[in-house]
Amino acid sequence: MLKTSFHLYPKGKGMRVNGFDLLGDGIFNIDGDGWKFQRQVSSHEFNTRSLRKFVEHVVDVELTDRLVPILASSAATRTTVLDFQDILQRFAFDNICKIAFGYDPAYLMPSLPEAIFATAFEEAVFITTGRIRTNLPMIWKLKRLLNIGSEKRLRIAVGVVREFANKVTKEKKLELEQKSSLDSVDLLSRFLSSGHSDEKFVADIAGPRVCLGKEMAFLQMKRVVAGVLRRFRVVPAADDLVDPVYVSSFTAKMKGGFPVRIEVRNEIK
Ligand code: HEM
Repeated sequence: MLKTSFHLYPKGKGMRVNGFDLLGDGIFNIDGDGWKFQRQVSSHEFNTRSLRKFVEHVVDVELTDRLVPILASSAATRTTVLDFQDILQRFAFDNICKIAFGYDPAYLMPSLPEAIFATAFEEAVFITTGRIRTNLPMIWKLKRLLNIGSEKRLRIAVGVVREFANKVTKEKKLELEQKSSLDSVDLLSRFLSSGHSDEKFVADIAGPRVCLGKEMAFLQMKRVVAGVLRRFRVVPAADDLVDPVYVSSFTAKMKGGFPVRIEVRNEIK
């Protein structure tokens, strides 16, 4: 249906109004020619061989230098309970920042530093999802008008997200101007430039709005499964009788995280 009657299913005005404060005129929140243009530019960039190689490199470094050592030290103490959801979010977040901005927020560190930007982004996404789900949009509109409650929190969160984006862009611009020879910066400039590759627009298999990051997401999942489960057993630490509670947002979550204990697999070297 999405493939053959795509034009009949735009995101629509409602989604646009609900999502605008967070997503603006970005690809997730726009229809028509504006979407077509962004889609063409982005899908071209997402499909270059240099980006694919860079993604593999970034994910492998994050896995080897950060994820595996953290799991290994957790396994050494035996009693430590890790929130695996938080760990994997930090992993994915470091990766996407390095890939998209050539900037390393270093959120997946043994000290588990406060992930200010990631938390603000999560909160903004959660509140925006609430707007979309509600049957009474008047309420959030009124709250926005009065700048109270969830709408006040949304404004603050979006502010943090913007501040982070500006900081990263400024730092990168400076680095590029200084003609740094860092690989990541080199690749970032190639990632941002358009038209250097002769690879064609790749046709989608499930409609024109299919996720552009699908391949990147699968690559991360496969590398985590291969790199982690080969070495460690990830044992849920919650009581067997406790069912995980699903938190519905743009990104699906487990309420309260996913507590696990990490054990080394001795039988596989
Ligand atoms: C497990 C991880 C992921 C899942 C489950 C997922 C899922 C989705 C879904 C369902 C859509 C369609 C949304 C809609 O039409 O409203 C989408 C769109 C999109 N995704 Fe993902 N995604 C994931 C990871 C990523 C990553 C890592 C990136 C970027 C690096 C990404 C970039 C995009 C973009 C740019 C679109 C918009 C496409 C368009 O509107 O033309 N995604 N994703």
